[in-house]
Amino acid sequence: MSDRSPAAEELRTSRLSLRRPTEADIDAILAIHRDPAACLHNPSDALADLDEAEGLYRRWNDQWQRCGYGYWVVRRHGHASPLGFCGVKPMELRGMEVLNLFYRFAPSAWGRGFAGEAATAVTAWASQHVPGLPLIARVRPANVASQRVAVRAGLTRAERLDGPGHDGFDWIYATNLPD
Ligand SMILES: CC(C)(COP(=O)(O)OP(=O)(O)OC[C@H]1O[C@@H](n2cnc3c(N)ncnc32)[C@H](O)[C@@H]1OP(=O)(O)O)[C@@H](O)C(=O)NCCC(=O)NCCS
Repeated sequence: MSDRSPAAEELRTSRLSLRRPTEADIDAILAIHRDPAACLHNPSDALADLDEAEGLYRRWNDQWQRCGYGYWVVRRHGHASPLGFCGVKPMELRGMEVLNLFYRFAPSAWGRGFAGEAATAVTAWASQHVPGLPLIARVRPANVASQRVAVRAGLTRAERLDGPGHDGFDWIYATNLPD
């Protein structure tokens, strides 16, 4: 199930606005994914140049067109510069259809609760608009900040789903799993 209504294109929290990406966000996609600190635990996500950033934007936009939701660009209200990205993507995890929760923020924005606030809003949105799919986060065991964001968003450890990922062994956090 997906929600193609314009409501999905902007989510708002007390401090943040989450908007569907546009081509104008490609520079920020590159800046954040080219920063080694932002891809320390997931080097396979790192981008090297504008061509790669345009390719990633196209894949994000294709998902928006296909599903009516995807990854949002996160900004503080009244600020033009993106803080980061947060959203969900359907995928298969160990034979099960799931929604994967994603977040990546510029290191300059870390430590002020922005990722937790954005991930909480996205999780609430997904539980309302895509209720048929479990929501999961795949987190590298050393990525404590990401684990805390998953927990803050309401996910809990699902050890039985742990396993190999793109960058090594992943711990799985989840909510809305079938019994
Ligand atoms: C993970 C990430 C999004 C967290 O962003 P952030 O804005 O600093 O997170 P928040 O400020 O919302 O903090 C959320 C929680 O993590 C904790 N935290 C933040 N940085 C931490 C760190 N380096 N070590 C331990 N805990 C940390 C906070 O104290 C907070 O905990 P609480 O919910 O118990 O209060 C950010 O570090 C990032 O973009 N990392 C690179 C990309 C990435 O790893 N994405 C996840 C891939 S699985």
